Amino acid sequence: MSYTPKRYDFHDKPADYARLAEDLRALLAGESDRIANAANTAALLFAALPDVSWAGFYFLRDGELVLGPFQGKPACVRIALGHGVCGAAAVQRRTLVVPDVQKFPGHIACDPASRAEIVVPLISGGTLLGVLDIDSARAARFDDADARGLEGLARVLVATGAPANTR
Ligand code: SME
Repeated sequence: MSYTPKRYDFHDKPADYARLAEDLRALLAGESDRIANAANTAALLFAALPDVSWAGFYFLRDGELVLGPFQGKPACVRIALGHGVCGAAAVQRRTLVVPDVQKFPGHIACDPASRAEIVVPLISGGTLLGVLDIDSARAARFDDADARGLEGLARVLVATGAPANTR
């Protein structure tokens, strides 16, 4: 298989996220293993999104979030529900956009250079599977358009596998 990521400038975020969702659908077509699909999703996002220092997944395992496929520097492995941006988004089951991580109480600094973060919960049929987490070294990197766009990409990933298909 050969895959050449397309570059988008994200000046029109809704349009470019819609194109990226089509790229993701094509990339994941025919595969239902969620680990494999999460790995390719992380690689696609890391290649396509400008100003991103880390892109990856934490999956819910026995009541805590455990590191899944990602691109970027090595990261903390386990995050308790309710802790950090990831644990907060998981408990609240909603996307959290953090313009300045230093102002987020309890932020977990895996990479001291990280300045902004967005975390999107992965939910399948009412069941929390984990979260998609993206970091940037640029403050205020993410906004509502990123939230809506990444939620769409998360739906594409979730639709590819059975709810318990993470191990
Ligand atoms: N900053 C996250 C931890 C995960 S790393 O960013 C990869 C948090 O506060 O939950």
